[in-house]
Amino acid sequence: SEDEVVNIVYITKDGKKVPVKGKVGDNAMYLAHRYEIPMEGACEASLACTTCHVYVHHDYLSRLPDALEKEEDLLDMAPFLKENSRLGCQIILTKELEGMELQLPQATRNFYVDGHVPKPH
Ligand code: FES
Repeated sequence: SEDEVVNIVYITKDGKKVPVKGKVGDNAMYLAHRYEIPMEGACEASLACTTCHVYVHHDYLSRLPDALEKEEDLLDMAPFLKENSRLGCQIILTKELEGMELQLPQATRNFYVDGHVPKPH
């Protein structure tokens, strides 16, 4: 229903704003994929990569649940880390996130592929 719609905006690394209609409960990484926004998601939301790295607009940061320790540990390894960095696949849309902007970083690194960290079994 209309009550469930959550409008958010993705900003690509070239600064292009792409408005998207999500729904309460949507995962921001899979939603990006649905709209062909070039956010990666190498580990399929299993908290084992940093390829879904995004910058959350400051007004919305405190409306997100705190990052799990695992997410924090992963973010520490992400290139171009900022204080408003989160992993896109850990962002679940709620009504409070109406209007949120999520910006993609300049680049991401899949450190499993690069061989920095052993792949989990
Ligand atoms: Fe790997 Fe988000 S897709 S942590």
